[in-house]
Order: sequence, then C-alpha cells, then structure tokens
Amino acid sequence: MDRYFSIWKRSQFNLLPNPDASRSLTYGEELEHILSKESCQKAYDEIKAWPEYQISPLVSLSNLSKKLNLVDISFKDESERFNLGSFKALGGAYAVYNFLKIFIEQTKEITINSDDLRQDTYRDITSELTVATATDGNHGRSVAWGAQIFGCNAIIYVPASCSQSRIEAIEEYGATVLQMPLKYDETVRHCIKEAKENDYQIISDTSWEDYRDIPAQIMQGYSIIAEETLKEYFTRPFRQAIPPSHIFIQAGVGGLAAALTGYFWLHLGERRPKIVIVEPENAAYLYASAAEGKLTKASGDKETGNVHTIMAGLDCGETSPIAWAILSRGADFFITIPDAITGPTMKLIAESPFDDPALKAGESSIAGLAALIMTATHEDTREVLGLSPDSRILLINSEGIMDQSLFQKLVVADQAS
Ligand SMILES: Cc1ncc(COP(=O)(O)O)c(C=O)c1O
Repeated sequence: MDRYFSIWKRSQFNLLPNPDASRSLTYGEELEHILSKESCQKAYDEIKAWPEYQISPLVSLSNLSKKLNLVDISFKDESERFNLGSFKALGGAYAVYNFLKIFIEQTKEITINSDDLRQDTYRDITSELTVATATDGNHGRSVAWGAQIFGCNAIIYVPASCSQSRIEAIEEYGATVLQMPLKYDETVRHCIKEAKENDYQIISDTSWEDYRDIPAQIMQGYSIIAEETLKEYFTRPFRQAIPPSHIFIQAGVGGLAAALTGYFWLHLGERRPKIVIVEPENAAYLYASAAEGKLTKASGDKETGNVHTIMAGLDCGETSPIAWAILSRGADFFITIPDAITGPTMKLIAESPFDDPALKAGESSIAGLAALIMTATHEDTREVLGLSPDSRILLINSEGIMDQSLFQKLVVADQAS
C-alpha cells in the first residue's frame, strides 16, 4: 500500500462488529414510526419544492479508490446544501416548517403550504412564535434559516466550545444566539428548561422520552441524501445500478447515520450497504452503547473522562434514542478514531494529492474517510469489514469549512511547515 497512507496505518482505532446486527432482520413497525418510506417521501416532496433546492453532487474519488484497492469511493457533497454549509440544512428547517404549518392549521382550521408562510400570509401568528434549540453550530444554522424564511423567531443556545465563526454563521439568519458556559449536553438541558419557562417550541435534532416527533422529522429530512444518492447509483450508466457496498458515516447524536441506515434498509432490504458508524474516540456514545448492548454514556478521555473532540459536530456525549433504535439493529460496525487524524485527512481532501476533485470538508466531515483509510490499509480489518477490490464506498461530506481558523491551523499552517 502507498507510503502516503503511513499516518493512517499507524493510527490507533477501535473496531466493533455489532453483535445485534443481522441482514435478515425485518425493519418493523416500531422503526416505521420513526422513519418509513412514506414519511421520507413526504419530506422529499416538500423539500424538493423549495425554490432553493438542488441535488447535491456525488463526487467520485476514483484515484484514491485505486490506491486503496477498492472499486469506487463516492463522496456525497453536502457542503453547499441550501448555501448553509452542511447536511443539517435538510433537517432543522423542515421541522420548523412543519411546526408552523401544524400550528396555523390547527389554530385556523385550514390547510396551508410553505409558499403561504414564505409570503407572510400568517405573519401575525408566526411572528409571535419562537423556536429554540441547542447546537454545536450546523443544526442551529438550519433552524435559524427555517425561522427566517418561514417567519418566526429563533433562539439558539450554543456550548462554550462553539467557535465565533460558527456563532456568526447562525446570527447571519437573524437568530438570537446565546453562548452558555456549558458543555453540549448541559446546553441541551438548559435549552429545554428555558423553552418550558418561556413557551418556546424546541426544534432538537436529538430525542428524549416524550420528545420524538420533531427529531424524527429531522431525520426524515436527512433521508433525502440517501434518496438522491440511490437514484444516482441506479441511473448513471457507469455505476451499473449497483448500490454502495459500505457506508462509512460519522455520528454525533446519530440522526444522520440512522436516517441513511433506515432509508437503505427500507429500500434495499438484505442488499443494503454495510453500515460503519464512525465516532471520535473521546465522544463515542454509540460505540459504547453497542459494546454494552444498551444505551450508555460515552466514556470520554481515558485520563480525564471528559467528552470532547475537535470534530465539533460529533462532540456529543449522549445519543438520540430514536437514532439508537435504528442503529442498534441496523448498523454493522462501530469504529472510533483519534482527533489526531483529523488534520491529515482534511489536508488529503483539500489538496487531493491523487488528482481527484478537491472538496471543502470540515473537521467532522472527514471522519468517515479517515476510518476508511485506517481500516482499508490493514489486511485483517479489510477482511473483518469485507472490503475488497469490488467494494463501492459511500461517504458523506457532511459540512464544508465552517471553522476557518481551525482549517488554517490544521491544514494551511501544516502545509507551510
Ligand atoms: C458536519 C456534521 N457531520 C456529522 C454530524 C453528525 O450528525 P448527527 O448528530 O445527526 O449524528 C454533525 C452533527 O452536528 C455535523 O455537524
């Protein structure tokens, strides 16, 4: 294998085959309540009618795939989705729309659509409503954008670790951003408390007891990524109508991974790709839960116990129970990777040393690719994961470069040295 990959080959990772996964498991009614063919179709029909909608590109990294002895690596590039910089654009804004639609329909006993909201027909009602969420950045931006285009107020709570550039990116859409001297999970709890006291509607991408419908809608919005991808696999002649064999997908609270897993499970059954969930080693809630066989907290840093990673979007110590319901049975493998591999992988994708198209990829985006290179460069893990010269890998570029100063530090400064 090329000497270029020695950093990935030397890096430590943990790989856990999911003991509870089986290709022949049926999807089942319980999971249908979270994500079904119908609810995904409903989200797709709505979102594709928005004037800003465009299919995101599926970029083939064919030279990199040859170097790794795989037939194809395709990167679904979400960095330009609705000009918001990440895949989260598909979820939060869709949930804000649903909340306002249902509220007005129930108040006025009528049926409305997104154009009515965009044209401010019910502004007298919506301007009195406030949506709120806790976020590491990208989800908050989506909620803020949804509130702006559909005409309500938004209050976005961010943790102490959220960078100034991420805060400004949310404020751009007219939301009030409140930075808390708290970690992400504590910020979520603070947001819930404030929302109860002030009658805000929470639009959260994570679920908890008695709060499932909105995070489920958000996942239904994300499922458009799978819908577009599968269409492309089945319509582009060079893809020969063969779906991906593996998806390496990064997880924070697990919503994105569960949306893709659920969609492919529903549409491809036993032919669905193997799902490999990738988390930072110090924020590996899903890995820990798969190891325990039940939802459990991430163990965090070996010495301090702190849950923290530079991959800001994946910096969560708790997962979404509805995402876990799908992933606990539908994911095939769980992998943890170290923060130290972030810089080299961002650099690889930004510089494209093998003459593939270069992509703008942020620190959370590259986790899937990092895990792919780490496992594909070891014979034993290739075998465990079933990676072969016939494998077709799907990765998601889940965000562009949202934190310029971190990009400068990890990629540009490194280049100069
Ligand atoms: C860029 C990026 N990638 C991946 C994720 C993980 O998504 P989820 O929290 O739904 O697992 C996030 C979450 O914020 C993110 O911002």
